[in-house]
Amino acid sequence: MDNKRIVIFDTTLRDGEQAPGCSLGPAQKLQVAEQLYRLGVDVIEGGFPVSSLGDMEAVKTIAKSVGRLPDAPEICGLARCVKGDIEACAEAVKPARRPRIHVVIATSDIHLKHKLHMTRDQVVERAVESVKFARRFAGSVEFSAEDSARSDIHFLARIFEAVIDAGATTINVPDTTGYALPWEYGELIRRLIEMVPNVHKVVVSTHCHDDLGLSVANSLEAAKNGARQIECAVNGLGERAGNTCLEEVVMALRTRQDLFGLTTGIRTKEIAKTSRLVSKLTGVMVPPNKAIVGANAFAHSSGIHQDGILKFRQTYEIMNPEDVGVEESTLLLTSRSGRHALANRLKHLGYKLNKKQLEEMIVRFKALADKKRYVFDDDLLALVEEKGTNLKDDFVLEYLNASSGTGVVPTATIRIRKADGHVVQEAACGDGPVDAATNAIDKVTGFKPKLIDYNLHAITSGKDAQGEVTVRLEESGLTILGRGASTDIVEASAKAYLNAINKLMVAKRTRRKGR
Ligand code: KIV
Ligand code: ZN
Repeated sequence: MDNKRIVIFDTTLRDGEQAPGCSLGPAQKLQVAEQLYRLGVDVIEGGFPVSSLGDMEAVKTIAKSVGRLPDAPEICGLARCVKGDIEACAEAVKPARRPRIHVVIATSDIHLKHKLHMTRDQVVERAVESVKFARRFAGSVEFSAEDSARSDIHFLARIFEAVIDAGATTINVPDTTGYALPWEYGELIRRLIEMVPNVHKVVVSTHCHDDLGLSVANSLEAAKNGARQIECAVNGLGERAGNTCLEEVVMALRTRQDLFGLTTGIRTKEIAKTSRLVSKLTGVMVPPNKAIVGANAFAHSSGIHQDGILKFRQTYEIMNPEDVGVEESTLLLTSRSGRHALANRLKHLGYKLNKKQLEEMIVRFKALADKKRYVFDDDLLALVEEKGTNLKDDFVLEYLNASSGTGVVPTATIRIRKADGHVVQEAACGDGPVDAATNAIDKVTGFKPKLIDYNLHAITSGKDAQGEVTVRLEESGLTILGRGASTDIVEASAKAYLNAINKLMVAKRTRRKGR
């Protein structure tokens, strides 16, 4: 392979899934693996086959399907340096066109003394036996020296030389506990490449954990010093504080190509979609301020920044949002926004104000923005028309019944009174009761807005607390906020969704008049 090409080894489905509270079944793992294929990762580590029947089935299914697609990535499973683990792993990855077996044993004195109760000689012997055994089943065998970052470098060099002679094709240098500092980890990689005489036969790999928030920096430093495989996970999922975050490390390499001169095979436009899928299936939310994929990663709030962005995007953006699959940067209208952002948004809504009108508008906008955190399109349209937002609703929720449970397809029946007095009833299924209810609402209203944001919080206390749901929807180029409250979460969600659609109706009518 090209010496400037970094192999992206994705471990979302193995180490990522070890994140507390995050477990994926075989069908969900397959869904993620299919998306990782579209994303263009080089290796998918699907699981630890000996650990459970579910993991065995998941890796096998991925190997059989994704592993046989055109230009399929390598499909990999993890195994300890134990015969039974390697056999299970071999069976799981066998259907793939390019199977990989990943064997691991610890090398630090702490692990040898307190966990393995083995001498260094015994560890080397076991590692060599295991690599030889794994090579009987797969042409690609990765050897990991667990806790490398706290291991004696001379012992590491010795064991890596031995496993390369035994047939390993990748040697991995994990910072299992997230202990290393970037320059220290980079130096470890550089020295190992110098010390291991047969290292040119293999790919040197990094696997970093984020206990000190340094996993991405450590992986980059390793790449700078000669590592050519980076192990990482979508959204940075992984044991404890997580693994090197795939999207961050890939975008750092790409954005600072000028310094690294390295490439990956990642189709970066798939990043946002992959992140959303992993978040949805694992239930682990992405924080708004998360780099690359957080909701605020391309959102600008201050007036100075908004003005800069509108004049020349690169003033405040080092990446193009479209390159990671985000449609466009967001200029949030808040009390900190200025004329330029306001005029720009109004123009988008169909209003071209002259200087005097804009001056008047900014005064009213600031007064509203001081009361509200964000000013949305419907608020702006109401301001332009000098109307309050309390108009008669086009759709009123009269009845809602939602059912869900284990083994039951989530379904909702909804009855809505329209402005002309007609009552319409519809039913729909969904991924959950809220999804089913909003799908039924879409059928009645004829809209299919994009749900940008969903938030639920308790507004009263106790077991019968009222929940308030806020949703942010996007439709026909308009962004609308809806709110709904109830002691029933599904009802609160349906009310919030319908509230946004009612505002959308008003906004659309107002916009038509403005044109
Ligand atoms: O953190 C670690 O050391 C691991 C190995 C299995 C590579 O996850
Ligand atoms: Zn790990």
